[in-house]
Amino acid sequence: MGRPLGSKNKVMTLAALKQIEAETRSLAQEPVEKDLSKETDDEIMARLGQRFEILEDMTRAVKKGDVRAMIVSGPPGVGKSFGVEKVLSKHDVFADVANDSKLKKYEIVKGAMSAIGLYSKLYEYSDKKCILVFDDCDSVLLDDLSLNILKAALDSSKKRTIHWNTDSRLLRSEGVPNSFEFKGGAIFITNIKFDNVRSKKLRDHLEALESRCHYLDLTIDTEREKLLRIRQVVRDAGMLDDYELTDFQKAEVVDFIADNSKRMRELSLRMVLKVADIRKSMPNNWRAVVEVTCMRNR
Ligand SMILES: Nc1ncnc2c1ncn2[C@@H]1O[C@H](COP(=O)(O)OP(=O)(O)OP(=O)(O)O)[C@@H](O)[C@H]1O
Ligand SMILES: [Mg+2]
Repeated sequence: MGRPLGSKNKVMTLAALKQIEAETRSLAQEPVEKDLSKETDDEIMARLGQRFEILEDMTRAVKKGDVRAMIVSGPPGVGKSFGVEKVLSKHDVFADVANDSKLKKYEIVKGAMSAIGLYSKLYEYSDKKCILVFDDCDSVLLDDLSLNILKAALDSSKKRTIHWNTDSRLLRSEGVPNSFEFKGGAIFITNIKFDNVRSKKLRDHLEALESRCHYLDLTIDTEREKLLRIRQVVRDAGMLDDYELTDFQKAEVVDFIADNSKRMRELSLRMVLKVADIRKSMPNNWRAVVEVTCMRNR
């Protein structure tokens, strides 16, 4: 191990968190106004469909233990968490019947996490049957100490030992040793597009993590791609099927969002659900209500 870990960060301060939040926002995927690609709508849909299939395939591979770690990057509300959770939560009947030792236990970690919190969480999930999913938990990607811990946890060497070289009462009280071998898997879900990171220091850091993980960019950057993803999920995955809406009404919801795409507060599947909620509960004036609650002022 290089430098000792654990000299700071017992509890992340509010100021540190605020800075991470601000950095995350500026690193997050910014909408690309101009779409210069020559791809047809069908080609874009095929590309997006394939990327989401790969998201599920890779999650399955982590679940099986064939892949150690993966980073998934994409804008908010396009189905990243949904895809990963769908695979992880699926009850593996065959593995159960065979009492397969590869059956995994997983936890989804959301929000902020200090470096020491990360260290003990990795310890808790250090078994080869475990997976940790860091979902929108960008503080672990932007904090030096946390990144060093992750680099050790996901190293490509046979034995991945993590050290916490500073005495810690917290770790002692929880029975967490000062070093341990991490054999689990990890999935990072984030809005940060690694290729767009401008700060050299941060980019070097993230590259070191990326080098240890499979990196999947869902490539939904433009307004057009977001709208096509929306159409795809409503059409192929039946996202609005639980709503008591006719096919015509469902099409109205999607078309309304497409027609007003420039003014929608967000172009995402989540926005489709919001508009569908309003379409269903206020059938007579849903457009006016959507305009007030989901759209920017002119
Ligand atoms: N294939 C799908 N079928 C049905 N519903 C879906 C599908 N994909 C996503 N959704 C729904 O769309 C909403 C947004 O999806 P999700 O939370 O996975 O987005 P996300 O990309 O993780 O966003 P964020 O970056 O903000 O966390 C959720 O309510 C989810 O249930
Ligand atoms: Mg999510």
